[in-house]
Amino acid sequence: MSAYYAIHDPLIERVLLTEDEIATVCSTLGARISADYRGKPLTLVALLRGGLVFLADLCRNIDLDLTLDFMAISSYGTGEAVRIVKDLDDDVAGRHVLVVEDLVDTGLTLHYIVNVLAGRSPASVAVCTLLDRRARRIADVPIAYRGLEIPDVFVVGYGLDLGGRYRNLPYIAVVRDEVMG
Ligand code: PRP
Repeated sequence: MSAYYAIHDPLIERVLLTEDEIATVCSTLGARISADYRGKPLTLVALLRGGLVFLADLCRNIDLDLTLDFMAISSYGTGEAVRIVKDLDDDVAGRHVLVVEDLVDTGLTLHYIVNVLAGRSPASVAVCTLLDRRARRIADVPIAYRGLEIPDVFVVGYGLDLGGRYRNLPYIAVVRDEVMG
């Protein structure tokens, strides 16, 4: 889909991950998750809003009877303080919970979420992320399923935004350095 609108956007430097490459990652991770959780009650939890697009593709690559749920959190800036602005709809006690993220950056978001979920008596809590930007990590979060490690560049598309824009790009693109200052 090379004629998509952002290809000629002056803010976008290059495509980092194509649709095909993302599809391959979803297929590989989905197969691993299907094997690992076979016979277990599984709930996929996506973090709004960015995790939504990856969840939609990943869940269709998991050949298991599972449920979906959503959380949204708000951060108070660069510190560790975050709060839940939308909680899960269902009880996860006794279920295996897999948190699905588009990107792990500082790790502060997941550190918080994993601790919150672990306090609700699940059978297990694990993390699946499409992208891992380790250069910015502050909190150490175990990542059970990692799509790709990316360099320290600002990326948009496939759920990831810049001021709310670009989430609907079917690929992941790098934003020009000049834009980010
Ligand atoms: C992004 C991303 C992760 C989080 C990772 O979400 O989707 O949830 O940042 O960052 P961290 O590892 O430094 O905590 P964002 O806060 O931009 O919200 P969004 O999902 O609504 O885009």
